[in-house]
Amino acid sequence: MAKNGTPRRRAKSAEHASAAIQDSVGAGVLPRGVTWTRRHLLDLDDFSFAEIALVLDTADAMKEVLAREVPRVPALRGTTIVTLFYEDSTRTRSSFELAGKVLGADVINISAKGSSVEKGESLIDTVLTLQAIGTQILVMRHHASGAPYLAARNASFRVVNAGDGWHAHPTQALLDAYTIRSRIGDLRGRRVVIVGDIAHSRVARSNTWGLTALGAEVVLCAPPTLLPMGLDGACKHDGEERNLPAVRIEPNLDRAVEGADVVMALRLQKERQASGLLPSTREYARLYQVTAERLARAKPGAFVMHPGPMNEGIEISSDVAHGMHSLIEEQVANGVAVRMAVLYLMMRGTKPDS
Ligand code: MLT
Repeated sequence: MAKNGTPRRRAKSAEHASAAIQDSVGAGVLPRGVTWTRRHLLDLDDFSFAEIALVLDTADAMKEVLAREVPRVPALRGTTIVTLFYEDSTRTRSSFELAGKVLGADVINISAKGSSVEKGESLIDTVLTLQAIGTQILVMRHHASGAPYLAARNASFRVVNAGDGWHAHPTQALLDAYTIRSRIGDLRGRRVVIVGDIAHSRVARSNTWGLTALGAEVVLCAPPTLLPMGLDGACKHDGEERNLPAVRIEPNLDRAVEGADVVMALRLQKERQASGLLPSTREYARLYQVTAERLARAKPGAFVMHPGPMNEGIEISSDVAHGMHSLIEEQVANGVAVRMAVLYLMMRGTKPDS
């Protein structure tokens, strides 16, 4: 039999999962008809429009939970979630922790600093240790691209990639898409400019996959030394040649922002950069800082975003970062609902046989 069963069985599984979702959150507004089929969330590179929409619709229901007087539901009671961070984090980690707690899960936080990693324990041994204590979802951030994939291959629990090296940060891209959708609606045909250190940014990569899957036009803007090679070519995915999503490259920020609905600034990832990529930070700020003057070239009312942490005065001016078109704090707030949706779908939205 095919891996996912007969069409009748598939339809029954979908109904089952959808009913489970409705019962457990009790919000009564979770989407019907689409089912979460993934064991792990490692990137958005093979996500369809419908799958992303499922997460965003589920996040809408989670926002309702968060708006309650006592924002707690037992949807994930008895579930053990471990956040394992080998790199610093404020927003991602705290929002995953809160998301798990709002859903009633037990959440354990581990940082590489202060754990057995400092005594030389290998990643695989750490993963096996966490499996032995009954972890059901591992939320993992690592400086090495691909590390969460290694964990996913070696453990029986589910893995959420909370940022791996330069590679991917799927929940950031989902919360960005959610934030844009909640302000401007359907993303199809909308222009999103991502400006900054594209080469070293996992946020830019995951956003490019996510936003193009939702039908947005993505413009990438950076000095040529901070643009990855081969953006117009094909990439290898699990040994298979695949086309990269269609994006427009525009190294001149004044031109890039013309007609934009959203401008997303990125931090210079100094911790990942080789030296000599930029003449100076001052020169970079002069040419690539998102300022009010530059934003005036975008569509009237265009929004500004930033995944944080921001370096105000370098990639974004303070008045724009805190101005009326900034969605930066909204991104952080939406991160909780979107991560609740992800954790919830991973445990309760999956087909019973996956
Ligand atoms: C990340 O973890 O990639 C952040 O959200 C963005 C950054 O570090 O600049």
